[in-house]
Order: sequence, then structure tokens, then C-alpha cells
Amino acid sequence: MTTSPKAPIVSVDTLSVAYRSGGDEVPVVREVSLEVSPGRTLALVGESGSGKSTVAATLLGHLRHGSRITGGRVSVDGKDVFALPARELRRLRGGTVAMVAQNAGQALTPSMRIGRQIAEAGGEVPVTDLLEQVRLPSPRELARRYPHELSGGQQQRVAIAMAIAARPKVLVLDEPTTGLDVITQRGVLDLIGALREELGLAAVLVSHDLGVVARMADEVCVLNAGRVVETAPTRRLFAAPADPYTRRLLASVPRIADAGLAVVGEDGTREIRPRAASVGAADVADVVDVREVTIDYGASRAVDGVSFSVRRGEVLALVGESGSGKSTIAWSLAGLRVPSGGTMRAASGGGPGGSSGGPSGDGSDGRSGDGSGGGSGDGSGGRSDGPPGRSGSGGDGDLGAPRGGARSPCAAPSSSSSRTPTPRSTRGVRWATRYGGRCASSVRRGRGARRRRAPVS
Ligand SMILES: Nc1ncnc2c1ncn2[C@@H]1O[C@H](COP(=O)(O)OP(=O)(O)O)[C@@H](O)[C@H]1O
Ligand SMILES: [Mg+2]
Repeated sequence: MTTSPKAPIVSVDTLSVAYRSGGDEVPVVREVSLEVSPGRTLALVGESGSGKSTVAATLLGHLRHGSRITGGRVSVDGKDVFALPARELRRLRGGTVAMVAQNAGQALTPSMRIGRQIAEAGGEVPVTDLLEQVRLPSPRELARRYPHELSGGQQQRVAIAMAIAARPKVLVLDEPTTGLDVITQRGVLDLIGALREELGLAAVLVSHDLGVVARMADEVCVLNAGRVVETAPTRRLFAAPADPYTRRLLASVPRIADAGLAVVGEDGTREIRPRAASVGAADVADVVDVREVTIDYGASRAVDGVSFSVRRGEVLALVGESGSGKSTIAWSLAGLRVPSGGTMRAASGGGPGGSSGGPSGDGSDGRSGDGSGGGSGDGSGGRSDGPPGRSGSGGDGDLGAPRGGARSPCAAPSSSSSRTPTPRSTRGVRWATRYGGRCASSVRRGRGARRRRAPVS
């Protein structure tokens, strides 16, 4: 690639787009101008609804239903896109400019094999070469699979293979990795970067993720309410944003050094609202206690010996790539999936003397829907919904007695004498579930309660 400036291959000149709404026209893109040279990547950033996708789609001559161009022009590879006859527009879309949309992989035809879908994208490059080019393993075998037999990242790679099948000069990427986990996202971005080099592609990248933008773009164009507020080389934009809106946009990104909630002012000033002082470990017991939990789907182990605890007022983040078991743990905590081993215990929010699911439910308790769960569905610490005789000694519900084997008793012994009362405002979904054997589980919503039985092993 040469370093000399090249004539732009994409040129958008004072473009305006409006939607018809009732009798009125609502402008959504206002006099937007931008240029992209071959081999360069321009990112469009701005908050949701700022017009990024609308602008990006015009490069392929697409306008959403109900919208029209009210001014300006879009030219790609020297052609005025919206003046092209239908056949030439099709040729432009197929050959000169291609798009990878958000979740493009999920939009593949479910009933058609991968190889055929790529072949139908209309390129002359053999399907297996394309699959190799997007770094998919065993291209021959993969071409025979159906979309559902591929992971999300693999599907997105297939969508990219389809986009580059006809060797376009311009790639439009609208949130191409949104929805993918960070590791898969990284792989897809690396791929896009490599293809851009190999094929000398110009790219227009729409992304709300400023980390992605910083990594991928040569230049950034910031949109606010359909208008360009600033266009600058990426490094300069991040180092010295000129426009207050850009400063605000950049300031809203959380930083690891933030020890609280960042409050961003209109002009982009940033103020950190410190977190409430955390309660000392000695003062408060764990409200969630997960020990060596295993959770299985049939023969496959989704969660393997996970332990953690959460104290009142704490927020614990479960992170990991797709399929690592995060949601399974969350579902289990919510009482919707029975662990196969370990213990999962949750204080149900009863204050000192508050009732709890405690040792009540043995599964035969017809009242466990409102009795178990600590009777604190509305957060009234210290109140007892359950019959006194059945209430626990503390606020714990054992969520995780394992199925079979050395089973913990459903009735979790607990001893919490100095628990902080739950705030009254705590409403919504509450859970207090005991697993294993004949235990029932219940979910309270507000004041109403539903009861469901945990599967019996
Ligand atoms: N079919 C439609 N009818 C009316 N307004 C629409 C329609 N589709 C999008 N819009 C409006 O167009 C504006 C720009 O949308 P869009 O380009 O999707 O923004 P972005 O990609 O930045 O989130 C938004 O204000 C949106 O509400
Ligand atoms: Mg969009």
C-alpha cells in the first residue's frame, strides 16, 4: 500500500435524509459530509438514534421505508449512488460495496447449507477459499453445515465471507461485533483488520463501542442528532476532542480507575460520585454464598466447582466468554436450575429475627410459596410471613443442596444474629429456593407470589 493520499472512494456531500411522519418530514440526517480513501477506515460514532446506520446504509443506496433524501449526494467509486439505474445499483451493491450488519451471522438462511449461501453471494472466488480467508477451520466440512451448527463468531465470519465474495472495494460494517463476547469480538475484529489490508478495502464502521473504534479506525466522524459535530484522525479525537459533545461521549466511557459512578456534565466534564462506604466484613454476613457448585446439562458440565460470595450492597460481576456458564449460574441462583453438586445459599433479606425459608419447606408444605423465601418479598425486614413454628433461625434459604449423593439438608441451618435489615424498598423478583430432593422453590414478585416445585431427582 502506498502512503500517498488517494482520491476518496466514498464521498458523502451535504447529505440530508428525512422520514415522513404524518404530514411532516422529520430530518434525521442533516447535511452530513464525509470522505473515505481506499485502504482507510472511517468510524461513525454517536449515541443511539444519531443517524449512523442511516448514513452507512446510503452507501449501498439503501433507505429505510418512509425515508427519503432531501438534499446532497452520495458517491461511491465515482458513481452517484442515488442516481444509478436499478441494474447498476445492484451491480454496485454486489460488487463495489458490501455490508456486514449487526448479527449478520444470525440472519443467515437457517435451512441452507453454508457453502450454498456463500456461493449465492455471487462471487467468483471458490467457497472454500473464502472460508479459508475468513480463517474458518476445515472449510470443506464447514461448507456442508447449516448455520445453527456454527458458533456466533463463526456465523459472523461466514457473513464476512459473503460480503467479500465479490471482492468489493468498500466494506460497510454496522456494529459488526455487537452481541459477540469480547474474545470472539477480538477475533472478528482482527479478521476484519487483516482483510482490509489484504484486499485494500476502504471501510465505514458504525460502532457504539469506542474501544472498537479506537482500535479499528483511522478517522472518526462524530454524529449528534443527524449532524456531524467533529471529524478527526482517531488519535487526535481521543487525545483532544474539540467539540463538547465529543468530550461528553468520551467522558461517558467507564474507566477502571473510577471508584464510583461517573457523572458526565453537558460539556464533558466528569465527576466521580464515590460509592457508599462499604460495610466492613465483620459487620455483615454474606447474603449469597456459593460453594463448589457444579451444574450439569445432561452429561455436559456447564459449571464446575464455582465458589463465590456476595455481601449486602455488593455487586458481583460474572464475566467470561460465551458458553462459560455465567447465565447458568444466574439461572441457578434464581431458582430455575438445580445444581448437581455443592451448595448455594442466599439470605432472603429478613432482618434480625426475620423469617426465612429456613428449615420450613420439605416440599410438602403447601404454604411454601409465601412462607419460604423469608417472607420478605416486600423487603420488610423483621416481618414474618411464615408460621412462626416453621420459620428459620436466620435469613438463609439454601439454594444449592446438591441432587443425590451427599445431599445437604434442604433446611439450611443458619445463624445470623446481626444481619442488616433489608431496605423496605426492595421489591420485585425475590428468590428463596431450596433445592434437592423434595424441596420446593418459590419466586415472589411484589406482593403476589408464585410457587413452583423444583424437579425431583
Ligand atoms: N422507519 C422509521 N421511521 C421514522 N424514524 C425512523 C425510522 N427508522 C429510524 N428512524 C429514526 O432515524 C434516526 C436515526 O436512526 P439510525 O440511523 O438508526 O441511528 P443510529 O444508527 O445512530 O442508532 C432515529 O432518530 C430514528 O428514530
Ligand atoms: Mg444503528
